[in-house]
Amino acid sequence: MRFSLACVATLFCASTAIAGSTPHGFGAFNKVRSPTIEKREPGQPFHNAKLQKRASRWLTEKTKEFAVNGTGIPDVPFDIGESYAGLLPISDDPNETRELFFWFFPSTNPNPGEEITIWFNGGPGCSSLSGLLTENGPFVWDAGTLAPTPNPYTWVNLTNMVWVEQPVGVGFTQGTPNITNEVELGLEFIGFYKQFVDTFDVHKWKVYLTGESYAGFYVPYIADAFITADDTDYYNLAGVGINDPIIGDETNQQQVVQLAFVEYWNNLFYLNETFLDEMRAHNEFCNYTQYQEKYLTFPPPQEPFPVLPDPYASEDYTCDQFDNFYSAIIAVNPCYNIYHITETCPHPYSVLGIVNTGDYSPPGATVYFNRTDVQKAIHAPVGTNWMQCTDVNVFGDGENNNQSRSDQSLGPAQNGVLARVIDYTNNTIIGSGNLDMLLNTNGTLLAIQNMTWGGKQGLQEYPGTPLYAPYHPETNLGFPTGAGELGFWGSERGLTFYQTQLAGHELPEYAPGVAYRMLEILLGRIENFSVVSDFTTQSGNYTGNSTIYRRSMEMPSYFQ
Ligand SMILES: *[C@@H]1O[C@H](CO)[C@@H](O)[C@H](O)[C@H]1NC(C)=O
Ligand SMILES: *[C@@H]1O[C@H](CO)[C@@H](O)[C@H](O)[C@H]1NC(C)=O
Ligand SMILES: *[C@@H]1O[C@H](CO)[C@@H](O)[C@H](O)[C@H]1NC(C)=O
Ligand SMILES: *[C@@H]1O[C@H](CO)[C@@H](O)[C@H](O)[C@H]1NC(C)=O
Ligand SMILES: *[C@@H]1O[C@H](CO)[C@@H](O)[C@H](O)[C@H]1NC(C)=O
Ligand SMILES: *[C@@H]1O[C@H](CO)[C@@H](O)[C@H](O)[C@H]1NC(C)=O
Ligand SMILES: *[C@@H]1O[C@H](CO)[C@@H](O)[C@H](O)[C@H]1NC(C)=O
Ligand SMILES: *[C@@H]1O[C@H](CO)[C@@H](O)[C@H](O)[C@H]1NC(C)=O
Ligand SMILES: *[C@@H]1O[C@H](CO)[C@@H](O)[C@H](O)[C@H]1NC(C)=O
Ligand SMILES: *[C@@H]1O[C@H](CO)[C@@H](O)[C@H](O)[C@H]1NC(C)=O
Ligand SMILES: *[C@@H]1O[C@H](CO)[C@@H](O)[C@H](O)[C@H]1NC(C)=O
Ligand SMILES: *[C@@H]1O[C@H](CO)[C@@H](O)[C@H](O)[C@H]1NC(C)=O
Repeated sequence: MRFSLACVATLFCASTAIAGSTPHGFGAFNKVRSPTIEKREPGQPFHNAKLQKRASRWLTEKTKEFAVNGTGIPDVPFDIGESYAGLLPISDDPNETRELFFWFFPSTNPNPGEEITIWFNGGPGCSSLSGLLTENGPFVWDAGTLAPTPNPYTWVNLTNMVWVEQPVGVGFTQGTPNITNEVELGLEFIGFYKQFVDTFDVHKWKVYLTGESYAGFYVPYIADAFITADDTDYYNLAGVGINDPIIGDETNQQQVVQLAFVEYWNNLFYLNETFLDEMRAHNEFCNYTQYQEKYLTFPPPQEPFPVLPDPYASEDYTCDQFDNFYSAIIAVNPCYNIYHITETCPHPYSVLGIVNTGDYSPPGATVYFNRTDVQKAIHAPVGTNWMQCTDVNVFGDGENNNQSRSDQSLGPAQNGVLARVIDYTNNTIIGSGNLDMLLNTNGTLLAIQNMTWGGKQGLQEYPGTPLYAPYHPETNLGFPTGAGELGFWGSERGLTFYQTQLAGHELPEYAPGVAYRMLEILLGRIENFSVVSDFTTQSGNYTGNSTIYRRSMEMPSYFQ
């Protein structure tokens, strides 16, 4: 049995650890050995070497108030391991009222290295706890499933992971949001991270920033704040990994590339030819077709790509191809999910609650992180009306209801921020799930092609090398993953781009093996996506020929 925090937390930090077998059963052959018991003082090693070997470096006088009882998580019938959660302020000011919420899981990897990886969900205004609970956390509770299951592809297996709710205004965070742009957001975050480093004593440790969707803004800007702070005691940036990100102009990423996406998937969408012809005409009229032909090329024209008119600012919505298609698709498939286009009815409901109009929540369903017992278990402020994506305007400059304000920053691929991060780290990975309509793969590539880094503009070649994800002995059908060739990748001048075919917007949820491999590459443990090898945390016969790596190919016997 792994040394778990249950043990630490049970005897709460005046804690005790026990080595040796405890007596069980009544058999005369059970030799009863008395266990070695020693009182644990925070920050002090155990005198007994056997105990010390299993003790955690993380439990100290400063961290004990954050310790989470790993066997006490509501509705989770297994030990989630050692973790720490709670609020930390965004500055040293003793009167600081603004605090961010974190949940930190030290790695279960015996040799994770002195490194911390942080995960961010997007929004703006969405909680990173949704990623923990449905994508890369040690336990997952995905939409449509009855109960939480252990996640064999949790990133905690590889490295020390922190999920942070930010900026102020999101989830359990405290204080009044008063920022208006990403530079202020970055300063808020680095203020918090300094407190985290001091609390957990991780000075000089490498930091990897990861995230998804609107974190395509957050992560590069926070990385840039790390670089600008120029203080590797606290902000030792080592790499960046984002997937399905918004990084550039919205019209480019969501409108220009939409027709080609719908045509590619139309056997699934089943839109009629009359309508498609009409949309093709729109696409020409709006100059989208010509734009994609000219600029989505490898290498791209070495010139800044023009910004097209914002279709939402026009009098009619002719050029709003995103919504033109969305309304037609949803007429055919009322349970259509723009984040994961293969979904059909019925609608699976999520314990994270309703995010978009049309999401279904059955009567009586509760939102997991809105439950008092859950809030208590993770040291969250009890009574918070927790929402997966807040209705507070996090860029409202203190005026919560001022919905006219929004993030004043440009996309990080438009103004040199992301390029600076790539050049600084030589270790930036951008991914995309091909079943994502919200931010599709071609749109992300188009944003990349307009960016100049490492002395050149764009990728010079299409990133089309086959991507391999390892076979694995995993049999947890509660959270399985694909294996073998699952997509394509390419890497130029410090930027790696990858796409995986059968993943939606939440890539680590739909393709956990690919996301796990991505993290292995980001952390420098695997060279690239072409490497055919085991996961670094498993060993076996990765070729997939041996029986333990093969699932049964029997046909189902019920034709119901
Ligand atoms: C941890 O949770 C388990 C299960 O609910 C419980 O038995 C145990 O007493 C808890 N420990 C503490 C210190 O609360
Ligand atoms: C904190 O607030 C108190 C009371 O308003 C004030 O007296 C004190 O100077 C403040 N401290 C700092 C560091 O601003
Ligand atoms: C937000 O409010 C705090 C506290 O009043 C202040 O110190 C800070 O400068 C403000 N930030 C911005 C970006 O206005
Ligand atoms: C992506 O763009 C290329 C080049 O314009 C096009 O051939 C391809 O069909 C597009 N794929 C999707 C899924 O949109
Ligand atoms: C398309 O491009 C042409 C030529 O540059 C321009 O005259 C026209 O206004 C553009 N159409 C739209 C809808 O922006
Ligand atoms: C392309 O990049 C330039 C900066 O090099 C930027 O000014 C422009 O807005 C970008 N175009 C788009 C469509 O994002
Ligand atoms: C074709 O699709 C459009 C858009 O959804 C719809 O308005 C139209 O009725 C459809 N035509 C037929 C013949 O189904
Ligand atoms: C969250 O819990 C509060 C009571 O603490 C309740 O008023 C609110 O409706 C709940 N929110 C959701 C989305 O269930
Ligand atoms: C950047 O990383 C690649 C490997 O990913 C390495 O080959 C190259 O030497 C590195 N460049 C610099 C300047 O460190
Ligand atoms: C993660 O760790 C668990 C438990 O130690 C193990 O069963 C699982 O195979 C690991 N996953 C990977 C991908 O190595
Ligand atoms: C596994 O199968 C592949 C193709 O079927 C073959 O090329 C490879 O040599 C096999 N590996 C082993 C270890 O047998
Ligand atoms: C790997 O698989 C091959 C072919 O199935 C088999 O011959 C070999 O013994 C296996 N190796 C191990 C270590 O299981």
